[in-house]
Amino acid sequence: MDSLTIPIADDFHLHLRQDAMMHVVAPLVRAGGVGRCVVMPNTTPPIATAEDAIRYRGALEALAPDVEFLMTLYLLPELTPQAVSTAAAQGVFGVKCYPKGVTTNSESGTEDFGAYDAVFSAMEAEGLALLIHGEVPSNAEKDVCVLNAEARFLPELEKLHGRFPKLRIVLEHVTTAKAVDCVKALGSTVAATVTAHHLDLTVDDWAGRNHNFCKPVAKYPHDRDALRQVVCEGHPRFFLGSDSAPHPRSAKESACGCAGVFTSPLLLPYLADTFDRLGCLDRLADFTSTFGCAFHGLPPSADTITLERRAQPVPAAYGDIVPYRAGQTLLWQR
Ligand code: NCD
Ligand code: ZN
Repeated sequence: MDSLTIPIADDFHLHLRQDAMMHVVAPLVRAGGVGRCVVMPNTTPPIATAEDAIRYRGALEALAPDVEFLMTLYLLPELTPQAVSTAAAQGVFGVKCYPKGVTTNSESGTEDFGAYDAVFSAMEAEGLALLIHGEVPSNAEKDVCVLNAEARFLPELEKLHGRFPKLRIVLEHVTTAKAVDCVKALGSTVAATVTAHHLDLTVDDWAGRNHNFCKPVAKYPHDRDALRQVVCEGHPRFFLGSDSAPHPRSAKESACGCAGVFTSPLLLPYLADTFDRLGCLDRLADFTSTFGCAFHGLPPSADTITLERRAQPVPAAYGDIVPYRAGQTLLWQR
């Protein structure tokens, strides 16, 4: 197979930032093969209300009129059931929950899920999705660090699903075999997103190499194998959420580097490259363009994109942002 035409992709987890950075990255979304994306709300200040989300969407549409932006609110103590209804009426897609302090701009994150029952009930009733960064904060007394933070979160996910069985919940950017097993075992309203980079990386790839450092961190080879396995088998509740998360070079190449890997402008070539090496290119379209919209009840995209098996060097930088696999050559391009 030297050419592959698939429906244009949906990216169910994307960071598009603000101001100058937004001007660089928003126009690159479509180039990466994505026609519709879920925009993360961890801006400064966070996207807290439907009004914030609509304003942000307007700014993004002005920069990338050929992309559909699905907006999210940041789960904050101020969020009320009434505000959830307003957001639903305005077409907001979902609410994103960051446990406090686990990643970039999560200082205002959640400390206690129990405090949000009324909000989750309203979301369940209104059909808003709950998108969860599934890590517990590191805690030396409880022996929690970045390597087991996701696994330690899974009981919380099980409890939430038990209490709100009709709420669509997405465990974002899964990185462990345990998370894959957990999501598989839960009901039809629970799904997971998988990034392009977590299909490639393990601990050895980010320890000492800041450009591959992101949250949650890539884990053991057997964890990566579980992610590869679940996308190659074509499980319908595992689909693309790139978590493309740009940071300026100086913030990555620093003694205290920011978490985040920038994949958006070459997202489909990265994935075609990986799926080809795994021998499951026939599963790519379901992963990027079918399973996610089916889970969320969105219409499938009518547009297509064509990928070709032709060498493509990854640029050293886009403006001030170093992309994933910079300087390497991909097997596929679009
Ligand atoms: C994200 C960012 O930079 O906004 N970073 C990351 O490593 N993934 C935040 C997030 O999604 O965790
Ligand atoms: Zn993210």
